[in-house]
Amino acid sequence: MTEQAVLRVDNFSKSFFLHEQDKRIPSASDVTLSVFSGKLTALVGPTGAGKSSVLKGIYGTYLAGSGKILYRTATNDEVDLAQADPHCLLAIRRQEIAFVTQFLHVLPRQSCEEVVAQPLIVQGVTRHDALEQARTMLAALNVPEALWGISPATFSGGEKQRVNLARGFVFGARLLLLDEPTASLDPYTTELVVAQLEKLKQQGVAMLAIFHQTELVERLADSLVELKVPAVRSNVMEEYANENVPH
Ligand SMILES: Nc1ncnc2c1ncn2[C@@H]1O[C@H](COP(=O)(O)OP(=O)(O)OP(=O)(O)O)[C@@H](O)[C@H]1O
Ligand SMILES: [Mg+2]
Repeated sequence: MTEQAVLRVDNFSKSFFLHEQDKRIPSASDVTLSVFSGKLTALVGPTGAGKSSVLKGIYGTYLAGSGKILYRTATNDEVDLAQADPHCLLAIRRQEIAFVTQFLHVLPRQSCEEVVAQPLIVQGVTRHDALEQARTMLAALNVPEALWGISPATFSGGEKQRVNLARGFVFGARLLLLDEPTASLDPYTTELVVAQLEKLKQQGVAMLAIFHQTELVERLADSLVELKVPAVRSNVMEEYANENVPH
């Protein structure tokens, strides 16, 4: 029997209408991909190809323009996240899907360990246990203990990225979405992240990840989906380039 995908995206497209310029900008066109338990699907392509837009569409940050986002839940129901009502989407997000975005948004008074523990507390884990797991993950990602009690609002780019990753890793997600998870990290810390991703794969987590480093794609990806800059936008960009050629 063929294995069922945890996530199947069929012909997802998304565009934005820029009113002041009266132009429609496609941000992702006809994207089709599958993500399986214990496997990592890498999403690659040039800047502006729509990689982040696909992840935001799956997570519900962006409404899908067209296409299906079929997610198989822990109870083996198939839900089209593109059509799901907001309550259903939020419940799935709270329990099953973690999204490590490119940027960490935090409340100024929330300490680093609380930021990491928060998704677990929302899931019903006791505060004590959630903080324990948060500290273990922060240590595994080499975040200095002196920073655990401080708000990450003032952290460096790499420190913020590690807090963001720790939050995604402790979540206990069935589907993990990762947007350039190692972009601000040095080679040593990148290896710590790779070790965690390999561990999560062994635990059966399905992952969809955007990496710019080919080496990481080669090491971690089980399948590869390449996005191209949508044709209409290539034309817009060409127009722009022509208009801006110095005469
Ligand atoms: N909220 C938005 N409003 C308007 N246009 C948007 C929005 N989000 C994305 N876009 C457009 O969609 C295009 C694709 O953006 P996206 O962030 O998905 O690209 P990407 O492949 O992740 O690029 P990068 O590798 O630089 O992160 C952008 O060039 C932008 O023009
Ligand atoms: Mg992006």
